[in-house]
Amino acid sequence: MTELFQYQKSAENKTAVLQQNGSAVILAIETSCDETAAAVVRNGRDVLSSAVHTQIPLHVPYGGVVPEIASRNHVEMITPVVRKALSDAGLSLNQVDAVAVTCGPGLVGALLVGLNYAKGLAYAAGLPLIGVNHIAGHIAANYISHPDLVPPFVCLVASGGHSHIVSVNGYDAFSLIGRTRDDAAGEAFDKVARILHLPYPGGPNLEKLARSGNPEAFHFHSAFNEGEGFDFSFSGIKTAVINLVHTLEQKGESYRPEDLAASFQHTVVSILTEKAVRAAEKQAVFSRPVLALAGGVSANTALRESLKQHCAEKNIMFYCPEFRYCTDNAAMIGSCAYYQLMSGRISPLTLNANPNLPIV
Ligand code: KG4
Ligand code: ZN
Repeated sequence: MTELFQYQKSAENKTAVLQQNGSAVILAIETSCDETAAAVVRNGRDVLSSAVHTQIPLHVPYGGVVPEIASRNHVEMITPVVRKALSDAGLSLNQVDAVAVTCGPGLVGALLVGLNYAKGLAYAAGLPLIGVNHIAGHIAANYISHPDLVPPFVCLVASGGHSHIVSVNGYDAFSLIGRTRDDAAGEAFDKVARILHLPYPGGPNLEKLARSGNPEAFHFHSAFNEGEGFDFSFSGIKTAVINLVHTLEQKGESYRPEDLAASFQHTVVSILTEKAVRAAEKQAVFSRPVLALAGGVSANTALRESLKQHCAEKNIMFYCPEFRYCTDNAAMIGSCAYYQLMSGRISPLTLNANPNLPIV
């Protein structure tokens, strides 16, 4: 038997024992974009530690994430971040039961840093390896914050790279209800923020500016989003904002950037709310509908409040993660990994990073 084969057999045996006991402490690693994160999570819901090193200051001078800088910084930070997660949890590597890692979607160079590190740890410690989809991880952030939340439910996932309405049929079973046809919601926030000369990361800075603006000052219509379908499109709205700014500047007319920010945010929030609420209602025919929110844009207070209000009006149960689990972190990866482990879905050491890994 080769050593790799031995490792695989032992990982499978350990997984079977963990499945039988229904219990596992998982060390999780996340390096898909510009956060180096590690966490220790017990039984999918109990976060023993969550360490996040953000690279934001490194990317600010460039106005966005520079993939090469991201990869290099992950290499530098992965060991201290993993050590911190273990020491904050008061555990050593031989006291954890499995190693989980984001294997996609994301920046390939960034993903590979976490993936290879996790493989090395899993192999050295003889632990099962669990490759986790980043989007599924974002959805699982809700399990940490809400012990009562169990599938099935509908989840609106809005991040920098993805915007989906997902039917969460089981912890490990998803189907797609709708998706963006072009830009992700977070991407549109970031691009409009750039036009308004706001620093990276655009989304949170645009939200701050929008607080003192009038959301009714400008109207951005989008025929596509007014349709009955569940797909959405943000590219047209983004272009409309850009064109408006250029026109106003060329005419020498002054405008309040806070009004533009508030009007843009209001438009995006209205579209996401209308589609997600309708999807939740449609999906739950025999029971009370449940809607969850996930992904970096779930940190947006206007979106959280809008969904909360519309769900209350329609008697839909609404969940969103605590702020610290909205943007990229490893606790959500550890939560998701637990349910994969419990269904025996572990990964071989040949697992590769997939920058375009789909959720279904
Ligand atoms: O999930 P995430 O941390 O990384 C990806 O998986 O993409 O999401 C980052 C995205 C960025 O586009 C960022 O601008 C956006 O989430 N975002 C926000 C807010 N906080 C983060 N967008 C609007 N309002 C916010 N408060
Ligand atoms: Zn993310």
